[in-house]
Amino acid sequence: MALWGGRFSTGPDQAFKQFNDSLPFDYQLVEQDIVGSIAWAGALEQVAVLTREECKQLVDALHSLLDESQANGVEIASSGYEDIHSYVEAKLIEKVGDLGKKLHTGRSRNDQVATDFRLWSRQTAQQIVVALKSLQGALVQLAEREFETILPGYTHLQRAQPVLFSHWCMAYVEMLTRDVSRLNGAIERLNECPLGSGALAGTAYPVDRERLAEQLGFDRATRNSLDAVSDRDFVVELLSCASISMMHLSRLAEDMIFYNSGESGFIELADNVTSGSSLMPQKKNPDALELIRGKTGRVFGAFSAMMMTLKALPLAYNKDMQEDKEGLFDALPTWIACIHMAESCIKGVKVNAERTLKAAQGGHANATELADYLVAKGVPFREGHHIVGQLVQIAIEQGKNLEELALDELKLVCPKIDSDVYPRLEIAACIAARQALGGTSLPQVREAINTFKQSIAD
Ligand code: ARG
Repeated sequence: MALWGGRFSTGPDQAFKQFNDSLPFDYQLVEQDIVGSIAWAGALEQVAVLTREECKQLVDALHSLLDESQANGVEIASSGYEDIHSYVEAKLIEKVGDLGKKLHTGRSRNDQVATDFRLWSRQTAQQIVVALKSLQGALVQLAEREFETILPGYTHLQRAQPVLFSHWCMAYVEMLTRDVSRLNGAIERLNECPLGSGALAGTAYPVDRERLAEQLGFDRATRNSLDAVSDRDFVVELLSCASISMMHLSRLAEDMIFYNSGESGFIELADNVTSGSSLMPQKKNPDALELIRGKTGRVFGAFSAMMMTLKALPLAYNKDMQEDKEGLFDALPTWIACIHMAESCIKGVKVNAERTLKAAQGGHANATELADYLVAKGVPFREGHHIVGQLVQIAIEQGKNLEELALDELKLVCPKIDSDVYPRLEIAACIAARQALGGTSLPQVREAINTFKQSIAD
């Protein structure tokens, strides 16, 4: 049943077998293992290890195994074989007899697993690119829906300056654009074919590795057999892409949890992404967002686990590397699930524009505006900053906003202030002043939305 055993007089004990077997998780590579095997059969025909007829028989059997294996994961996982490569070979031999024993000629599980895992990674990463773009689409839609809604912008979680709600949406679109770009870079680098590298030294059969690579949809064949079987950079890179993007999603989640709180009341999450309390009937909890925030931790964990596993590993293949799979098998689906969930939250959100406006009007968020007004009146900014600070203190004492102070009160602190200050302190003026590239004025945010839409149209 095992792929080895000739040099052993006793078999592995049960505990070791359980410890060593990877089939309980690498069954997920069944499709990739079969597809890689089909390509390898072709390579063996090309170097005359297999006749055309033998190759055809193997390929046919592999195709039918592929059909049988789809949606059969649980059964495969518990079938007792050592790993997915052993499983596929055993099933092939059941189908075509001794001919099945020829397929492993010139191939090792080391180049095989590296190939299978890259195929899986490429496919999954491509699905994530699609999911990220779809989340961006939902954010842009929300930006258009709430284009003119005013939101308090925060630093240190203190109301700082008003911004457009749409500007907040587009901030996350920017982050996701970088996530997509990072992921595309990782896909480009991982898209090399290790098959034909053998166990570590290269294969002893003169197979056309570039053709093999092309058949499996890779851009090129790997250049060094030692590196090809030892390299798990692609796993690290994908986990790093996942971690950075999850960090973004966790910030989105945290912003929305805060906006959704009773204290802010800026947004209301839809019923379909919230849940109730078993005790307190009034509760509607932002569980979806909290889970996105929470799951970020396990994705970071998978990333650091992989770094530690690979640290100081000698060349070439070591069984430590079998530990590469569970982290990625968990992290990438977790990432996709979080992207989808974030999209649902964004799509169903209701924004309470009155509350956001009211909050933006409070907290003296127009103080910078007043300092800029003083600059226009010839007061050096640092001095103006100090004057406004004094005015804020007076306003706080009186429980007022800056624009509610009377002109003589303002003049008392700075005689250069005139009645033309009041329109400048209106929230619309604060927003409109941010005309430079990347600012929160309406034309700038419109431009950001248009640029994004143009980029997807291209
Ligand atoms: N199950 C192994 C893994 O996932 C496959 C490679 C095993 N190679 C070996 N020489 N034992 O890494």
